[in-house]
Amino acid sequence: MQLSLASVILSVLLACQANPAPRCKAPGHTTSDKYFGDASGDIVGAAYFLTDEPTGNFIVGSDIGSDGLLTLRRAVHAGGVGAHGLHDLGPDPLFSQGCIDLSAEKHVLVTVNPGSNTVAAFKIDPTDPTNLKMLGKPVDSHGDFPASVALNKAADRACIINSGTHDGVSCYSIDAKKGLYEIPNTVRPVGLNQTTPPTGTSGTLSNIIFSEDETKLYVAVKGTDPAINVDTHPGFFAVWDIQHDGSLSEKYTRIPVPEGGKQPFAMTPIPNENAILGADGAAGFYVWDLETIDQGVPGPRSSVTPVEGQSSVCWSRYSSCTGNFYVVDGVISNITQVTLDENLKPTKVMNFPQDIFDATIDFEIVPINDQDHMYILAANATAVHVMQLAPDEMTRIQSLDFSVAASTVGLTIDPNNVQGMKVFLK
Ligand SMILES: *[C@@H]1O[C@H](CO)[C@@H](O)[C@H](O)[C@H]1NC(C)=O
Ligand SMILES: *[C@@H]1O[C@H](CO)[C@@H](O)[C@H](O)[C@H]1NC(C)=O
Ligand SMILES: *[C@@H]1O[C@H](CO)[C@@H](O)[C@H](O)[C@H]1NC(C)=O
Repeated sequence: MQLSLASVILSVLLACQANPAPRCKAPGHTTSDKYFGDASGDIVGAAYFLTDEPTGNFIVGSDIGSDGLLTLRRAVHAGGVGAHGLHDLGPDPLFSQGCIDLSAEKHVLVTVNPGSNTVAAFKIDPTDPTNLKMLGKPVDSHGDFPASVALNKAADRACIINSGTHDGVSCYSIDAKKGLYEIPNTVRPVGLNQTTPPTGTSGTLSNIIFSEDETKLYVAVKGTDPAINVDTHPGFFAVWDIQHDGSLSEKYTRIPVPEGGKQPFAMTPIPNENAILGADGAAGFYVWDLETIDQGVPGPRSSVTPVEGQSSVCWSRYSSCTGNFYVVDGVISNITQVTLDENLKPTKVMNFPQDIFDATIDFEIVPINDQDHMYILAANATAVHVMQLAPDEMTRIQSLDFSVAASTVGLTIDPNNVQGMKVFLK
């Protein structure tokens, strides 16, 4: 019996190999959207994260009520499959910040399918913002393992990073009806000698953003090679010039991470300053003064500051209500508030410990009723925590567990695969 069953399976496998796609679709692969339940009360926005599952990548959307609290609503298929880097198979599969970006003004959301090497754009229904409709079809990411997206302010362009064997950036114009179109002369390698999926976390691309004036593209690069000691070969920023037609300079300028930095991860512009604050996965957080960017070096106000008890400080955001920055450690689950003075020197660094096994990763901060709210993916707790922020204070007002609801609607979730957090406000 067993032998004949095995030989049937073998012949099916062989038949599949001889005659590949479309009959080789992986078992359990699913593309149909899931619905968690109806809306109730006032909806002021939505929060989204990615399942990044190899059997089907979904954008999980929750309504945000006028009280800032979340209600799970929909999981929308992102048009491909997820993937996980090889470093360890724990949370933070893409070694990135920003796998989802959106424009609240233009009602457009863009994300990646890391296992399909595609990028997909969606229209956000502003009256029912978890209702996402794909614009056109997913397009080629022009590399392997796409991991982070940046939209420009007008939301008519998107640039992404690929972090696998064929690494680098590529950019698209966004047509509000038809979706993404490749912008010529934007597929540019970094040249990290990675694998697909990447061995990471060292030697991978972490985050991509436009400069404030949108004449440059910044990419944070961790380490230089997975095989080399990060202490002697720290990471850097790859900076491309953006031409008027949206094309990129052929080569990037390599700007070293500020002294003491190792694994630049997230990048958060400092408002009204020509500078960026970001998380560094091996060093704490950095301030990158852009003043001397044309000379290829970090400016005089640059610095690196360790965080007490740090293990992997990888994500960063700014809170406009409190005027503080926040960085998050994904391994010890401490959320850290950082206060800067006018010389960009940190004057206060305060930790807000979460549950030790939460694995807090991607987050976003938005004002609701004149108070900043933090939405943070607690990956290993399969939850999104909602925090109310005040200077030197943080109050958790909700922890929305999504594992039970996901299994109820037949959505595959793995705490090690979920990634990303982005908020739409009406
Ligand atoms: C690329 O990485 C492989 C190991 O994954 C190594 O054997 C090879 O020497 C590297 N090549 C370069 C050019 O660094
Ligand atoms: C989190 O931060 C607190 C306060 O700085 C610190 O005492 C603690 O050691 C940190 N947690 C871990 C697990 O290191
Ligand atoms: C995830 O949580 C489990 C307990 O629920 C714990 O054993 C494990 O170490 C945690 N993993 C991480 C990466 O925090």
